[in-house]
Amino acid sequence: MKVAIMYFSSQHKNTKKLLDALKETYDVTLFDVTDVKDVELSDYDIIGLASGTYFGNYSKKLLEFAKMHLPQKKKVFLINTYGALRAIQKDVKKIIADKQCELIGYFGCRGYDTYGILKYVGGIAKGHPNQKDIENVKNFLKNIINK
Ligand SMILES: Cc1cc2nc3c(=O)[nH]c(=O)nc-3n(C[C@H](O)[C@H](O)[C@H](O)COP(=O)(O)O)c2cc1C
Repeated sequence: MKVAIMYFSSQHKNTKKLLDALKETYDVTLFDVTDVKDVELSDYDIIGLASGTYFGNYSKKLLEFAKMHLPQKKKVFLINTYGALRAIQKDVKKIIADKQCELIGYFGCRGYDTYGILKYVGGIAKGHPNQKDIENVKNFLKNIINK
């Protein structure tokens, strides 16, 4: 099973922390959507979309990238970090459905958040993703690959 993950990770690289842990354990290829322009994903069997939550949603850059580059009829999974609440699923699910792809799983966990006034109180979800989150995301991907 060839697995690729397109991702956007900015604030504290919380999402990237999860993905780096996955890469240590599994044969996954990571694509930073701010860094790649032409990418060919049709060779991959399973494609992940990953980002933090920004203003309630997945990263706009990730959603735009997925609209352009997600091939048709793939198995797709989602990884999302958030300070308090997971990203809304509506927009990403529409892109997945429009591409006739199948959504096969979602993983979410909290990520250290110091956005805006939160920085004055030391942030929230400090220390996340932590070792337990990393263990959980590894188990999540194991199940995805074995599906
Ligand atoms: C501009 C901005 C907007 C954010 N909006 C939300 C939000 O609406 N809901 C939430 O729970 N967390 C929000 N967060 C917190 C991030 O989702 C959280 O810290 C996430 O782990 C960031 O992932 P990253 O470090 O991979 O970019 C926001 C962070 C930033 C920088």
